[in-house]
Formats: sequence, C-alpha cells, structure tokens
Amino acid sequence: MDKIVSLSKRRGFIFQSSEIYGGLGSAWDYGPLGVELKNNVKRLWWRDNVQLRDDMVGLDAAITMHPRVWEASGHVASFSDPFTGCPNCGRHYRADHVEEARRNSKWWQSLKEAKDTGRWAEVERWAKSDKAGKKLAPNLAFVRNPDFGKIRAVGDNLTPVSGPTAYGMPNLASLPDEMFLDVVADSKLVCPNCGGKLSDPKPASLMLKIALGPVEETGTRTYLRPETAQGIFVNFDNVLQASRKKLPFGIAQIGKAFRNEITPGNFTFRTREFEQMEIEFFVLPGTDEEWHQKWIDERFAWYPRYGIRKENIRLREHEKDELAHYAKRTADIEYLFPMGWSELEGIANRTDYDLKQHAEYSGKALEYFDEETKQKIIPYVIEPSAGADRSTLAFLVDAYHEEEVRGEKRVVLKLHPELAPIKIAVLPLLKKNDQIVKTAKKLTADLRKRWYAVYDDTASIGRLYRRQDEVGTPFCVTVDVQTVGDEKAPADDKVTIRDRNTMEQVRVSLATLESTMQKVMDGKWAEVAQEHGIVRA
Ligand code: GAP
Repeated sequence: MDKIVSLSKRRGFIFQSSEIYGGLGSAWDYGPLGVELKNNVKRLWWRDNVQLRDDMVGLDAAITMHPRVWEASGHVASFSDPFTGCPNCGRHYRADHVEEARRNSKWWQSLKEAKDTGRWAEVERWAKSDKAGKKLAPNLAFVRNPDFGKIRAVGDNLTPVSGPTAYGMPNLASLPDEMFLDVVADSKLVCPNCGGKLSDPKPASLMLKIALGPVEETGTRTYLRPETAQGIFVNFDNVLQASRKKLPFGIAQIGKAFRNEITPGNFTFRTREFEQMEIEFFVLPGTDEEWHQKWIDERFAWYPRYGIRKENIRLREHEKDELAHYAKRTADIEYLFPMGWSELEGIANRTDYDLKQHAEYSGKALEYFDEETKQKIIPYVIEPSAGADRSTLAFLVDAYHEEEVRGEKRVVLKLHPELAPIKIAVLPLLKKNDQIVKTAKKLTADLRKRWYAVYDDTASIGRLYRRQDEVGTPFCVTVDVQTVGDEKAPADDKVTIRDRNTMEQVRVSLATLESTMQKVMDGKWAEVAQEHGIVRA
C-alpha cells in the first residue's frame, strides 16, 4: 500500500486531508488526477447500471434526512461496532480489528521474528537484553516481567515434553501465533500500540450527530446519513408515481455517506466520509432469490470488465450470524487489497424490511399495485451496495505494475482506457520548433472535443512517456519534424501513437487520427498495429 500512497501523493491522485495542519487521519482529498479517476468509476457505474438498462432510474437524495428515518431503519438502535480502549496509551480500537492491527504492529512483528528463529534465547533477549521489547511494547506483560515459568507451563500443556531444550521449553516456537501471544501477553486482548491490556468491548454508535439551525441547543437533531439507501426507500412512492415503473425495477444513487468509524485506516479503504454507489432493486416477493443471484453475477462480472484481474476478486457468502438485521442473504465481493481480502461491495436481499418499517414509522403506505393479481403488495428489495472510494482504490492497486525496461524500472498504471484520468497526451518532440508546438497544441484542442487530452513539453520525450505511464495514460501522440516538414523534406502529416501497455508505436496520418484513436480506445491496438506496422517498440 505504501507505494500506492506515495504515487497518489506525488502524482496528484489522493492527498491527506488538511495536510498543512498535520492531517486528519480519516479523510482524504482527491487531487487533479484522482478526481478524474473517481469520476470515471462513478460514470461507468452509472452508465452500466442506470443508463443502459430499462429497469432502472436514478436519484440524488439529500444527505440530511428527518431523524425518524434513522429510527425506522434501525440505525439509531443498532448501528454500532464493538470498541475497546487501552487505559495505558488512550488508543481506541474496533474490537474485531484489534487482531489485524496487532499483527501489523512493529512490536508484534519484531517479537514474531524472534519467535520464528525457534531459539528462546532470542525471545528472551527481545524482552530483556536488546531492549527492543521495552521500546516497542513497554506495557506488554512479557516485557515488564518475562515469565518463562508460565511459558513453560503452557508449552508443557500443549505439547508433551519428550526432552528438554536448553531452556526446558520444548516446541514453543511451533505454537500458532495467537497461542504464543496468549502466552507472552497474558491475554489475547493486548493493545496493538503499547502492549497494554485492553478494556472489555462495548458498543459504539457509528452515527455522526448534527444539529440543524443557528442555535445548537434548539436545532433539529439528526445525523449525517450512514448509507445512501434510506434516501431511496423514503422516495419509493415518489419515484414510482413519477416514473410509472413496473416491478421489477431499481433506483440507483451515488452519494456521500458518513460513519464514525472507530478505526479508519488502510488509506481510503475505511474512512469516516466516503461515497457509496447503491441500487435498491424492487421485485415481487417470491422472485427475490432469483433476482438476488442475478445481481450477484452481474456485479461480480462488472469489475473485471474494467480491468480488475479475476484472481484478485472473489465472492464471500455471509454466515447466518453475520447477516445484518434486515438481510435474508448477503454475498460480498471481496478484493485482494494489499492488506488482504476485504469487502469491495455487498449484495443483500433486504426483503420488505425497509419499506415496511418506513410505512409503520411515517404512517404512509409504501406499496405497489400488482395489475395481474389486483392486489397491493410490498416489494422485496435486492441491494447491490458498492463503495466509490474502495472501487477506485481497487482499480488503482490492480493497475499498479513495476517492470524493468532496458535496465530501468518502469512504473506503469495499466488502467482501462475508460478509467484512465488522461486518455491522450500530445507531446512535441522538439519544444523549440514552433511549427511542431503549434501543430501539437492544435491537435490537443481537437482531440479534447472527444477525449480528455493534455499537452506536455516539460521534459525530454523519454521522460514524458514515463510520466504518462505512471499516471496510466493509455496513449501518447507525438508530433515530430516529419509531421510538419522542414527544408529537407515536406510534411508527411503523420504522427506517432504510442501504446502504454506494449510501448509499441505506430505512425498514422492526421486525417485518420481520430478514427484510429477510437479503435485503440476500444481495445483494438493489435489490429491497428498490424494495419499500420510497428515503427518502434
Ligand atoms: N446500504 C448497505 C450498506 O451500506 P455496507 O456494507 O455497510 O452496506 C456498502 O456498505 C459499501 O460501502 C461497502 O462495501 C464499502 O465499499 C463502502 N463502505 C462502507 N463503509 C465504508 C467506509 N468506512 N469507508 C469507505 N467505504 C465504505
């Protein structure tokens, strides 16, 4: 992840929020290229899920909603995560994230390294002589008082002793990490930061409270929405009446959501302010299971369509005890992020829970009149719910490649052309040649009418190519002396197109440039290369 964070800052994809004030850990700002990338993710999602379908319409509901919405939805009562704190260093953690944080902590890795040597003298030294333990986890019981007697007792219980080692503690090195931690730290619940003993987990609400109005005390108390979904449910009847849609049909929305996450982290993966891309797809009860499966398949196929490698995504079915209070079945699409497999999108069968709840709390019927049976019914809902920030991060991570080209490292973002922030970079071979510069600038302006194109003459051509590779620009167009002609030869009115992935170059006439660009944007580079012949690779 460090490489992605560093590239993001260096090239203007994503910046730390309020960085000049020391930063706000849970928020990130999208820079000039990041906003293009994220907008492309949202645009493609909208196009594929709304504009290309007959059975979908869009919505853009307000972030602030009536406080009763959140009582009806169940968020006020139960939208919480268990949290735990360390009385020693004052840090807080989501209880189910402690283990991951601990495994990533420097002290745990350092202790594990000592353990993995299999020599207990190393572990003892970690705690006592080298002072590594005292520096990294000063409050860890094992560091404060390295108790080898206890280790021995647990070791004996776990594995019958066949012969004492130098320390009389056989096979401790082969203990699973978690048991080993139990032994050395007295408890599984130790602080990832300092090794102190964590408090018992308690629920903490994830809702961000706000007061609307000039006087805080008397203002309307509500919440920043924790999901966009409820804006869709409360507008069900409005949309139905206005659009005259028949079941099955869906309402889609992209928008900000806010959660007071206890442990935001892993770059933009978990933040307190994020964007969701949600669909509530209303179906006849009884057809819900079939539609649920259709949406799981549809959404699972969407990510590879824009470049995510198939081996990097998987489906994970929720266990019964993991299901949200409203869900009959949920499947998550997970992506292999640098920190491991994690949720990218959830696809839930929410049954008729939400419409029923809002009908009860608001007193307004939220029903559908079924022409066939002449009965009023409450539809079931299938909800594919994706994160715009998480998807953007997954596309970025998946596109990142490091290669060696002629003994030098090439960093390249192999982003799908539809996702790439810049589609075409027009580069003059000689920036001191007025004719070349003029032609290149005119070309940029022409190409911009269809694609986001930029002109760049701030470095040598090799460097310019590398810079564009690093930000994922799929094609560079180079204008040179042959294009414009000189006293030795007349203009050939041709330019070079360079393909980012293969680094191959073809020469095409200016007259056919636009149609050729369309072909290569559509993934037909090999066809174009064959037609025109590769001039350089
Ligand atoms: N309406 C259902 C719902 O909100 P969710 O699984 O809590 O379900 C859906 O959220 C998606 O929103 C997640 O799969 C993830 O992509 C994104 N998401 C949720 N919490 C997030 C956070 N704290 N930071 C970034 N993205 C988040």
